[in-house]
Amino acid sequence: MAGSTLEIKDLHVTIEDQEILKGVNLTITGGEFHAVMGPNGTGKSTLAAAIMGHPKYVITKGSILLDGEDVLEMEVDERAKAGLFLAMQYPSEITGVTTSDFLRSSVNAHREEGNEISLMKFIKEMDAAMDYLEMDKNMAQRYLNTGFSGGEKKRNEILQLMMIKPAIGILDEIDSGLDIDALKVVSKGINKLRDESFGCLIITHYQRLLEYITPDKVHVMMQGRVVKSGGPELAQRLEAEGYEWIKEELGIEDEIAGQKA
Ligand SMILES: Nc1ncnc2c1ncn2[C@@H]1O[C@H](COP(=O)(O)OP(=O)(O)OP(=O)(O)O)[C@@H](O)[C@H]1O
Ligand SMILES: [Mg+2]
Repeated sequence: MAGSTLEIKDLHVTIEDQEILKGVNLTITGGEFHAVMGPNGTGKSTLAAAIMGHPKYVITKGSILLDGEDVLEMEVDERAKAGLFLAMQYPSEITGVTTSDFLRSSVNAHREEGNEISLMKFIKEMDAAMDYLEMDKNMAQRYLNTGFSGGEKKRNEILQLMMIKPAIGILDEIDSGLDIDALKVVSKGINKLRDESFGCLIITHYQRLLEYITPDKVHVMMQGRVVKSGGPELAQRLEAEGYEWIKEELGIEDEIAGQKA
């Protein structure tokens, strides 16, 4: 299956009357892994939330297209159905819904009515993915993320990713809070999806994750924009030297996105 293309053009986003994103340009195509890095508060999670249609984030200018279709015209569930998936920086706990039921509803939401996955097939696929991610099978019967440790929540996000197989995955700090073994397992899960039908945007602070998941491109966000792009070597330089040199290059003192003028 040929991949999808997500095109973000001159995206401006406001939260509570404060402009956070100030003209983001980014294109991701199936088969490509893009890393987005950048200091705290520069708009990375805001970008992820805006793509998925979080109601708090108001798009004031620019466009988001998925295979030429206007994403901004779609409701949140339509965006998911169109092939967009977000693994959140802070996954929500949902008490009353088991992980297994949630996963099955999510998988079925991506299928046409009348073509729902059979329970047998679902369980087989879920078991296989949980094995792959070295997850305790009991987790499937626990309420979604409720009482899960930080690392368990992140693993659970990748379980969803593997079951839903979206066209474009956006992973917001999927590596935060993971121990070394979990980092390897989660990376393994993401790498398993690497083919022409899957494009991925990986938001991270650390080069360490990118040692396991080699990005095709690395972008740096500052002041609500992508200010620099390069290959994996850019992440290596950031790890070694931090962000100061980019600020000097750009002639800016403060990298934060949401500061009032
Ligand atoms: N709901 C909100 N209300 C007010 N300000 C917000 C809101 N959400 C985000 N902001 C502000 O927008 C700016 C960008 O936040 P965002 O979460 O996108 O940063 P980030 O790049 O993901 O940072 P981090 O690396 O710390 O996760 C921050 O200054 C933040 O305080
Ligand atoms: Mg963030």
